Amino acid sequence: MAKRGKIFSGMRPTGKLHIGHLLGALENWVVLQDEYDCVFGIVDWHAMTTGYTDLSELPENVREMAIDWLAAGIDPEKSIVMRQSFVKEHAELHLILSMVTPTPWLIRNPTLKEQARDMGLIKSEDDTEMATIDYGYLGYPVLQSADILLYKADTVPVGADQVPHIEISREIARRFNHIFGAVFPEPQAKLTQTPRLAGVDGRKMSKSLQNCIYLDDDLDTIVSQTRKMVTDPQKLRKNDPGRPEVCSVFEYHTIFNPHELPTIETECKSGALGCVACKKNLAERIDSYIAPCRERRREYAQNPEKVDQLIQQGSDTAREIAQTTMKDVRKAVHLV
Ligand code: TRP
Repeated sequence: MAKRGKIFSGMRPTGKLHIGHLLGALENWVVLQDEYDCVFGIVDWHAMTTGYTDLSELPENVREMAIDWLAAGIDPEKSIVMRQSFVKEHAELHLILSMVTPTPWLIRNPTLKEQARDMGLIKSEDDTEMATIDYGYLGYPVLQSADILLYKADTVPVGADQVPHIEISREIARRFNHIFGAVFPEPQAKLTQTPRLAGVDGRKMSKSLQNCIYLDDDLDTIVSQTRKMVTDPQKLRKNDPGRPEVCSVFEYHTIFNPHELPTIETECKSGALGCVACKKNLAERIDSYIAPCRERRREYAQNPEKVDQLIQQGSDTAREIAQTTMKDVRKAVHLV
């Protein structure tokens, strides 16, 4: 099949992946593998920009991320799975792109600001405060642009929060091409259709909030996590009528249990179905949903050398593409 274009996407290896990643990104990547030439990057330099005081877990996180991806169905026969720091061209292109990136583009970037605020690096959304963050972190979107442009990717599947970053990538590509001649396509964000899956406490699913369900969680863990979920506050007793439209358990059922949805809706509303049973049912659905992934995960986890080898091979293949692009780039900027 003729491919529609080229994709780059990546994730920072900061810890285990959860079902939010699976539904929000990975399942989408798995489908796109057949339609596009894909490079998926474990972006470890990006992980450094957002936390460098303790990097001792980084090597393990890189491997675990590869395992999660493979378990979800990313196929190294179809796609390139690479590690950013294994392909030094990312750093060289980042440097060159940084020369043509006006600082205000970065200081004003809403995604970077929000993240910096969440991490406690800044207190307000004031531009002057953004000027106090680390130089490398300010360049986060420039490094991300290098990731994408190095493979001349035209399509970048990401969540809506990443759109400002991709907009910067487009602007950098345009500016580079304008100054030095046409080298790069202007990449487009391809938004994932699935809405963001909330954590079991209704807040954003995040490791630090302990509200995640991980891809390798067993049924007991899933049961205890779903117990934390918030249901209709007006449904106090088992047989009180409930309102599925305000219930986070019901929202999860729409995703993990579409077949039983009409029954659950009717029985919740009539009071026939209690929240405890409804949550238990949900836990079992989530369990069987992730079971194949968890099984593949276990197999890869037992073969760490094989995983490391796949990362190595993927990075070697990526480097060949990257070197070709860098020839064009160096020629365009007269660094030959
Ligand atoms: N910033 C992305 C995130 O936090 C990760 C990332 C790094 C990325 N480089 C990329 C995503 C290139 C897409 C393309 O999710």
